[in-house]
Amino acid sequence: MKKILSIMLAALVLVACNSTGENNDGENGMEPGRILVLYYSQTGATDSVAREIQCQLDADIEEIQLENPYNGTYDETIERCKKEMETGEVPAVKPIKADLGKYDVIFLGYPVWFGTYARPIAGLVKAVDFKDKKVVTFCTLGSGGLQSSTADLAKALPGAKVVMEGYGVRNARISAIHDEVERFLIEHEFKEGYVTPLPAFMEDHPVTSEEKAVFDQACSDYPFPLGTPVAVATRTTDTSTDYMYTVNSKDKDGKNVVGQVFVTVGFDEGSKPEFTQVVR
Ligand SMILES: Cc1cc2nc3c(=O)[nH]c(=O)nc-3n(C[C@H](O)[C@H](O)[C@H](O)COP(=O)(O)O)c2cc1C
Repeated sequence: MKKILSIMLAALVLVACNSTGENNDGENGMEPGRILVLYYSQTGATDSVAREIQCQLDADIEEIQLENPYNGTYDETIERCKKEMETGEVPAVKPIKADLGKYDVIFLGYPVWFGTYARPIAGLVKAVDFKDKKVVTFCTLGSGGLQSSTADLAKALPGAKVVMEGYGVRNARISAIHDEVERFLIEHEFKEGYVTPLPAFMEDHPVTSEEKAVFDQACSDYPFPLGTPVAVATRTTDTSTDYMYTVNSKDKDGKNVVGQVFVTVGFDEGSKPEFTQVVR
């Protein structure tokens, strides 16, 4: 099943990877072939993003393999992961085939597990020297964890130059990656091209009943509580209205926490509100 899903997602990416900007042909100041996309993916979502980045940059790519893969069900992975986090055990990765000495920039991709980078990345960090490499994170997630996982990675790789603003996408929104990855690569000058800069969010205000309805519509499919929206700021882009809700929620120990839930509503006819990310 995982294999079929991966093949379908990869095919989608290949069809979709028809970028409007220039590839990494040296024109943008980056030497061709000096970018490596290195990633771990258990169920195929991060694999799709990795292939999209590879395709848009014409970069080299390698998937991280484990000595003892996480082959079980979702619940089995959760159990194994929890145990490893308790004991501090780190999964061993198979030797990386790419010669890292050839690359200045490494796009490092992973799923978010328990608010941070997946355990295989802990194994990679232990095995591979990232000294002086520019590391750009990308991840897929159920709801959030891009910022926390990138911050954790920066701590784990003190000798590397970790770019603090990575790219993250909910696995429910993989169909959005072509345009989002393209924007990310152009904004961060890995690729030539032009994207209209996104405006800042306006000042926030108490949530109206209409805005609460947008929140509920966007988040109703998400199975875990995201909290109560108390304030919202909006912005209008070329293609959508975006909402940044301030939410009051509780962490796993019952402590009050404030977070942000992001929602976007496209202008295309029939577009439904989409929950894009939570930041806590
Ligand atoms: C062990 C485990 C822990 C997870 N923890 C989180 C989490 O803390 N936050 C989140 O948003 N998603 C979490 N997820 C969901 C994954 O990040 C998401 O399904 C991801 O897209 C899977 O990527 P992959 O298909 O490349 O393996 C978790 C999944 C697993 C298996």
